[in-house]
Amino acid sequence: MPGAISPALAQAAGAAPALLDVSLRINGTEHRLSLDPRTTLLDALREHLHLTGSKKGCGLGQCGACTVLMDGMRVKACLSLAALAQGREIKTIEGLAQGDELHPLQASFIERDAFQCGYCTSGQIMAGVACISEGHAGSPQDIREWMSGNLCRCGAYDHIVAAIQDAAAVSSSTQGG
Ligand code: FES
Ligand code: FES
Repeated sequence: MPGAISPALAQAAGAAPALLDVSLRINGTEHRLSLDPRTTLLDALREHLHLTGSKKGCGLGQCGACTVLMDGMRVKACLSLAALAQGREIKTIEGLAQGDELHPLQASFIERDAFQCGYCTSGQIMAGVACISEGHAGSPQDIREWMSGNLCRCGAYDHIVAAIQDAAAVSSSTQGG
């Protein structure tokens, strides 16, 4: 279009990029947002939707504190663009319990005392839910391997592994496996 400048040129000239209309389905609810196209899924959740259960530990994909599920697969929300999450089913820690009933892994985290400061916990739980559904919770070694993307500065690893084992046992007994 004559006279139009490209977004890259506008950005180079210091202009704010045009906002993008984005529709995100989170915990079963559709949310419409106008976002800077560079907004990460984590910032959309925390800063725009005030779903602050997902944490920003490193912002670099290294700690796992921001882990959420996208179509049932774990992703690091700090590395995912919100605009690319359109049409996907996002689940965060806020959507895990059924009303007042905790998810079995949330319950086993409490039972096993699997956190200290709690900063890594929502990411650990979301990754743990995926670890179990992927079939990677068959042994403590498996769990350690498949949870290795989630760091805990408090070193609660033994308790986290025990909590995931407990929830995996509940899950296999309810599936008759
Ligand atoms: S905040 Fe996303 S991996 Fe650390
Ligand atoms: S409980 Fe503190 S970082 Fe994991």
